[in-house]
Amino acid sequence: MSGAIRKERDVGTIRVAGRDALFEPFRIKGVQFANRILRSSMGGRTACYDGTVSPAWRHFEKKFAKTGVAGIISATIDIDEKRLSPLEYPKLSDDHFIAPLRAGVKEVQQLGCRCIIQLGDPGGRTQTSLFSQKADTQATSANFDLMYGYRNRTIPMTTGEVEREVEKFVQAARRVRDIGADGLEITASKGYVIHQFLNPVTNRRRDRYGGSLYKRFQLLGEIVTGVRQIIGRDFLFGIRFPAEDHNYAPINLRLPIVFPRRDYWFGNMLDQNLIYAKELERLGTNYLHVDSGFGFSNPKGNPRDYLYDGIRLFANSIRHLNTKATITAIIVNPIPTAIARHTLGYGWKFKPAANADYARAFKQNPSIPVISNGGFQRQDVIENALAARKCDMIARAAVACKSRPSQNLRLGPERVRQSPHLLQSMLEPVGSAGARVLRAQPFPVAGRDGAADYRLSGTTDDGENAVSA
Ligand SMILES: Cc1cc2nc3c(=O)[nH]c(=O)nc-3n(C[C@H](O)[C@H](O)[C@H](O)COP(=O)(O)O)c2cc1C
Repeated sequence: MSGAIRKERDVGTIRVAGRDALFEPFRIKGVQFANRILRSSMGGRTACYDGTVSPAWRHFEKKFAKTGVAGIISATIDIDEKRLSPLEYPKLSDDHFIAPLRAGVKEVQQLGCRCIIQLGDPGGRTQTSLFSQKADTQATSANFDLMYGYRNRTIPMTTGEVEREVEKFVQAARRVRDIGADGLEITASKGYVIHQFLNPVTNRRRDRYGGSLYKRFQLLGEIVTGVRQIIGRDFLFGIRFPAEDHNYAPINLRLPIVFPRRDYWFGNMLDQNLIYAKELERLGTNYLHVDSGFGFSNPKGNPRDYLYDGIRLFANSIRHLNTKATITAIIVNPIPTAIARHTLGYGWKFKPAANADYARAFKQNPSIPVISNGGFQRQDVIENALAARKCDMIARAAVACKSRPSQNLRLGPERVRQSPHLLQSMLEPVGSAGARVLRAQPFPVAGRDGAADYRLSGTTDDGENAVSA
């Protein structure tokens, strides 16, 4: 540990050191991670039509667990029974989904890999469905969105429906604990329903869930409070949280146009989200998983070159759903890829460690650990972000399983450091096996009365485990 600065707190152990920071273990809320790399949420069609995970789920997750990552964060698992988004993605909206997920989580853990289950609900930005149904349009307010969601118009949830949404998150969180996962993450990002409440353009409500910076936080505040109560104080609980919304990216048409203009073009910015983050810490959140952007996918949250072929495929796969989906498919099919890249693909560009500087801002204010997401494809980029204390861990979507995994598995941490093969397999840029995984996924295109009011205390108001330790 020579030359290293070591700082220990109840929230974790932070080491700022040179090149091997990546392999330094890290602890959050009693959960020990063998190194600093997490496999970020990566969705796929790994469930039956009702949302029960199929064997594909555990095979998919184990494939990543075997690469030596410290933990995997599951794809977003839906807490809502009706929103089938995307189709054949897992659900946790009922107790009968617990047992099959428990079996898969156990197998991942037996590989020495931590398993965090991420919960979320796409709200009115549901990407696919079996039929176009009303549940898929329900969101925070009545909005028009030309790109996200396969319907342009959303219908506001009633106050009672919002209260039931809180309860759905709370009950799904209880199920995550019953499953035996190592931790729970709730996504308040990606333009999904919680994010729709936080964002000033999509939240035009005038009840207690909207109307000011503080009221827009009400839904998330109630969810975090209820979840913490039901899972207890000892269970690892993090929030995937956007640093900035960047409403302007990608090019889209959103209505209504709201004032001030800053709200319309940018959504919440860093200063506003830092206020929210401090409140999340106060409510008992154990870590923040920082990304940025508003919508899945978007150029800031998914920093990469524009995947026009994937967009086309996705558009064609949902073209039967409704008029919007059909028109989108008709438009995107004939545009030559080269032209699409420079028009529809405006703003899509790979940026290494795209959100690491944002992560640093969150590390400096709340004192809980921060995971940075986006654009971590190279070892030196990861090492630099860790060494510069921009984040405590990184999460990346594609951790490739290289062609000779048997050489790289069953190794202890020391051997991992010496093994360029394993390192390669963990840090392989998207392009080999990682690219195959990516191509197999759908890619989105076009696109309580009586309860105590929640108040912010913000600034003004307030195979085989490669690295088994
Ligand atoms: C195919 C695919 C599926 C994804 N599924 C999810 C998901 O279910 N939930 C989520 O929060 N993020 C999801 N993401 C976003 C990733 O977790 C990650 O934030 C993003 O890809 C940026 O990281 P990267 O630069 O390492 O790719 C997905 C990304 C891809 C490419």
